[in-house]
Amino acid sequence: MKKLIQNGTVVTAADTYQADVLIEGERVIAIGHNLDAGGAEVIDASGCYLFPGGIDPHTHLDMPFGGTTTADDFETGTRAAAFGGTTTIVDFCLTSKGQTLSDAIKTWHGKADNKAVIDYGFHLMIAEANDSVLEQLEQVVSEEGITSLKVFMAYKNVFQADDETLFKTLIRAKELGALVQVHAENGDVIDYLIKQALDNGNTDPIYHAHTRPPVAEGEATGRAIALTALADSQLYVVHVSCAEAVQRIAEARERGLNVYGETCPQYLALDISYLEKPDFEGAKYVWSPPLREKWNQDVLWSALKNGILQTVGSDQCSFNFEGQKDLGKGDFTKIPNGGPLIEDRFSILYSEGAHKGRISLNQFVDITSTKSAKLFGMFPKKGTIAVGSDADIVIFNPNATRTISAKTHHMNVDYNPFEGMEVNGEVISVLSRGNFVVREQEYVGAAGNGRFIRRNKFQRP
Ligand code: URP
Ligand code: ZN
Ligand code: ZN
Repeated sequence: MKKLIQNGTVVTAADTYQADVLIEGERVIAIGHNLDAGGAEVIDASGCYLFPGGIDPHTHLDMPFGGTTTADDFETGTRAAAFGGTTTIVDFCLTSKGQTLSDAIKTWHGKADNKAVIDYGFHLMIAEANDSVLEQLEQVVSEEGITSLKVFMAYKNVFQADDETLFKTLIRAKELGALVQVHAENGDVIDYLIKQALDNGNTDPIYHAHTRPPVAEGEATGRAIALTALADSQLYVVHVSCAEAVQRIAEARERGLNVYGETCPQYLALDISYLEKPDFEGAKYVWSPPLREKWNQDVLWSALKNGILQTVGSDQCSFNFEGQKDLGKGDFTKIPNGGPLIEDRFSILYSEGAHKGRISLNQFVDITSTKSAKLFGMFPKKGTIAVGSDADIVIFNPNATRTISAKTHHMNVDYNPFEGMEVNGEVISVLSRGNFVVREQEYVGAAGNGRFIRRNKFQRP
């Protein structure tokens, strides 16, 4: 069955133009004017933008963390993502020391199979880089299609890996054509600062921020970059939150190094003062890295505008306030780190970014979709609207406004960090590989319709 989307304005990372889009099966087969409907179902998109489906390069669904498990699984999380205009996610597959990589990947497939509503890929965490793991990586990259590897430089005694592990991973990634991602904070220093804070009786959520200072992020970012240069490899720094890290990435890119960076909506639109909300509500705003002084927001926006940072991920890692975040009452270190943003990432970027003129409309598409497709081996199948590409399309009304609220969101979590925020623009309908998942703001998708994407090897975009 064909579908013809008429009267919309197509927006890609490169162009903005009025045209109709003809879809057959899963793909776009023509873009132009006066296209022959030839029995196609006609969809009127007058007054709307047609964006390539959002690609969220950073999610944690159904993930055990901080003594509990994220509130959203692959079904609720991808459903909420679709409502927000995202048609592809790349989720982090955890591994542990001694576990085979294929066993870890099998576990993650088990979480997503028959549940995901939209397409998905996996990044693979590297917990150790012994000979066996380095050997197994060939199969992971070449056959499983998992072409990005993640090393944590923080969360001591949980996920944290040492510099030798990071360095060996960088070397192997270069050989195999994978992109190495880092959570860049100095976990050893943070561990010391946390112990000091607790010894001094400082247990409130704000001490989460005080014990993870910007210098700890800047230092780790710089160290990861130095090791990348030494290994002649490629690096993607996740959830960049502050000027110290942006500066290191900017310097690296000026030197021509193969270094990329991602930030997240919370760092662009919230700040450290949220951690001081009364009645323990500050716990809702506990992310690592933490929220920063407000002036960092301008630094991050200008880094996106100037191409120093390339993407915005949601870092979706949702925990209910009641029953999960409150595990940390009386001890901030027991607050599970993370928040729910998979649904609102796209619209916060549109409203705070493109609508307010901080980035152009085409940059909005690049940042929310195209660059992730390129960096993570999915372009041009994903990340654009073009003949031959998957028909992952968002029909978006730029003239509507809506108020973000936990009362109306679709994530399986009891609060929204952006509660009450009015955003410009609204997702009307979303197609994933030619099929509606959301139609006129009603859910028409199905669990299990999402497909695992075997991604291509890393190529410098
Ligand atoms: O606080 C965060 N960012 N939680 C998710 C895990 C991670 O570090 O990305
Ligand atoms: Zn992280
Ligand atoms: Zn994360």
